[in-house]
Amino acid sequence: MTTCSAPRRRRLLLLCLCFTLLLRFHSCAASPRDLRFSVGDIAAVEAVLPSLRQARSTFFEVDRPLHPPRGSSGPCSTLLLSHSFAFTFTKPPVTASYSPPSCLAEDGGGARAVSLAVLEWRADCRGAQYDRIFGVWLGGAELLRGSTAEPRPSGVTWSVSKDVTKYASLLAAGNSTLAVYLGNLIDDTYNGVYNANLTLHLYFRRAARSPTAASAPADRVVPVSRSLPLNDGLWFVVDNTTDVESTRLTVPPNAYRAVLEVYVSSHNFDEFWYMNTPDQNGPFREVTVHLDGDVVGAVWPFPVIYTGGINPLIWRPITSIGSFNLPSYDIELTPFLGKLLDGKEHELGFAVTNAQKSWYVDANLHLWLDPKSSATSGGLIAYDAPKLTGRIVSNSSNGIDGQYDATASRNITATGWVRSSRGNIPTTFTQRLTFVHTNVVSNQGSSQAINQTTEAHTEVTGDGPHSQQLHQSFPLYIFLGGDGSGTSSQKLMRRVALGFDETRAGAAGRPASTLHNEQTAAAEVVLRDDQVVGASWRMPQVYEYGGSDGGCYLRNVSSVGYDVLFDHNEESCAGTRRRRRRRGVARVGGRGRG
Ligand SMILES: *[C@@H]1O[C@H](CO)[C@@H](O)[C@H](O)[C@H]1NC(C)=O
Ligand SMILES: *[C@@H]1O[C@H](CO)[C@@H](O)[C@H](O)[C@H]1NC(C)=O
Ligand SMILES: *[C@@H]1O[C@H](CO)[C@@H](O)[C@H](O)[C@H]1NC(C)=O
Ligand SMILES: *[C@@H]1O[C@H](CO)[C@@H](O)[C@H](O)[C@H]1NC(C)=O
Ligand SMILES: *[C@@H]1O[C@H](CO)[C@@H](O)[C@H](O)[C@H]1NC(C)=O
Ligand SMILES: *[C@@H]1O[C@H](CO)[C@@H](O)[C@H](O)[C@H]1NC(C)=O
Ligand SMILES: *[C@@H]1O[C@H](CO)[C@@H](O)[C@H](O)[C@H]1NC(C)=O
Repeated sequence: MTTCSAPRRRRLLLLCLCFTLLLRFHSCAASPRDLRFSVGDIAAVEAVLPSLRQARSTFFEVDRPLHPPRGSSGPCSTLLLSHSFAFTFTKPPVTASYSPPSCLAEDGGGARAVSLAVLEWRADCRGAQYDRIFGVWLGGAELLRGSTAEPRPSGVTWSVSKDVTKYASLLAAGNSTLAVYLGNLIDDTYNGVYNANLTLHLYFRRAARSPTAASAPADRVVPVSRSLPLNDGLWFVVDNTTDVESTRLTVPPNAYRAVLEVYVSSHNFDEFWYMNTPDQNGPFREVTVHLDGDVVGAVWPFPVIYTGGINPLIWRPITSIGSFNLPSYDIELTPFLGKLLDGKEHELGFAVTNAQKSWYVDANLHLWLDPKSSATSGGLIAYDAPKLTGRIVSNSSNGIDGQYDATASRNITATGWVRSSRGNIPTTFTQRLTFVHTNVVSNQGSSQAINQTTEAHTEVTGDGPHSQQLHQSFPLYIFLGGDGSGTSSQKLMRRVALGFDETRAGAAGRPASTLHNEQTAAAEVVLRDDQVVGASWRMPQVYEYGGSDGGCYLRNVSSVGYDVLFDHNEESCAGTRRRRRRRGVARVGGRGRG
């Protein structure tokens, strides 16, 4: 431990640790939240690896493959945009005019005929560059948010295929503008240009078969984002705890169901929010959704670690869960439709509890319209959104080593009725959210272990086919440590265990599913006399998905260094069922559509 800022004389933990661990890599003058290795650091590591001068690498995020329902025709593929993102930071998004592909128009069935829509982002980059965040919007509605892969000098390529069927109405709606923002910086050191192609693949169901009520995409998708022109992404930027970013919108008079889909990503001082100390607003964050000033829902985000985070080598070639394709979060607004259906403008806003600079947040309002009536009506029956509870307890005997524990909990519930041609139907939306976190600092500040779990239970009841329970659990464990500190030889160690677990159960006919997705990675960089002499890392990942509609997927993949050691995958449910039973996870109930 050397010259990081002097320990503060208070009972707070000194968390210069990320720097103490990175001493040989980063000067203490580096950005205060810099849990990153610089391009130069990685170049030094690569220089001692035998495999450096190999051909272009392909990095990938483990996800299940997308298949159109049996009997579908297609794909009908359309290149939407092809662009090289060089110096794009603080510039306007790249735009292209969008017209529904002729196969979508010709078919006659429009959005209802789409059985699967896949948005494919395929990109490459060569040279030196940081990971960058990017977003794709159609008519102002966000379709995809991702982090780029950090390139190698020899080049890297990656692709993401995202199911965008839920945006079918938007894809069919008519001419609009496609916008892509990827804020990249180019200078003498960071010369990596991101080349990207964006392609839409459409599959169509056989004529006269329409989707079941439970799975039909919304009839209208209303963007809740910033409008062009601007020199940034269309997301709102939330920079502090009091900031509420909002927009005003109106809802068509015959809506009977409303779901707000929220996209979030954390950056700069809050990129690694879960490692933040009490004087950095602690490790807890949530995005709250405000309707005319009331908190109507909350997003407790999955901790996405971008490809440059903690130690970039860890995420090569298997990238972090959610990093190439960030998850979005649904808030059921149907109970509040009574208020929204008055034909007037309403304010939808976003805040981030404990925020530091910066959070990028926007949303899409998915609306289902009553084809048999020109006006629906509704009313709120009950609404209860008590304040967030939570606390941080910290202790330290010497101002350096110690522990702090943080907890948080929030409940939101709302019931409202909507009268449409389907009847007068009450809907209840309930969220029960908990967060438990510990951060232990030891070895004179040279080791840090973070262990936290976010649990989010969300329930929609009342409206038959749309009723569902969703339980999400996001465990995260991070260990940062060094050994041999003060001697000529030193090891910098990182361990990350990250999980995305989800159980979805629903009313009859509503697809139910379970997902267990887990990474347990470790990396070690060995230094001798301040020189990198070796590095090793490994990433085992297990992805198990089981769906009531018969779709199952198991992937068991493991990499060591840049090499994939084994990669086993199967699409039969037998394997996943067997494993699930062994792990004691309940079987998914209900039978979906054939
Ligand atoms: C994008 O498409 C063009 C034309 O097909 C192709 O030459 C280029 O290699 C593609 N780029 C990527 C990153 O896939
Ligand atoms: C939509 O765009 C296409 C291609 O630019 C153009 O031919 C067509 O006239 C436009 N349609 C409308 C309704 O503006
Ligand atoms: C919080 O951010 C908003 C929007 O950028 C800004 O107007 C406000 O002054 C900030 N408040 C504080 C306390 O920094
Ligand atoms: C700090 O708190 C932890 C957990 O409550 C406890 O185990 C530990 O002994 C405490 N340390 C000090 C120095 O008080
Ligand atoms: C949330 O609800 C659960 C179960 O009803 C209850 O145990 C918990 O104390 C509540 N939490 C808050 C913060 O109100
Ligand atoms: C993290 O905490 C959970 C819950 O307390 C515990 O079961 C788990 O073993 C811990 N993980 C590690 C790696 O310490
Ligand atoms: C993954 O594969 C490894 C090596 O074959 C095996 O030990 C492990 O049990 C597998 N895990 C699962 C969940 O199938």
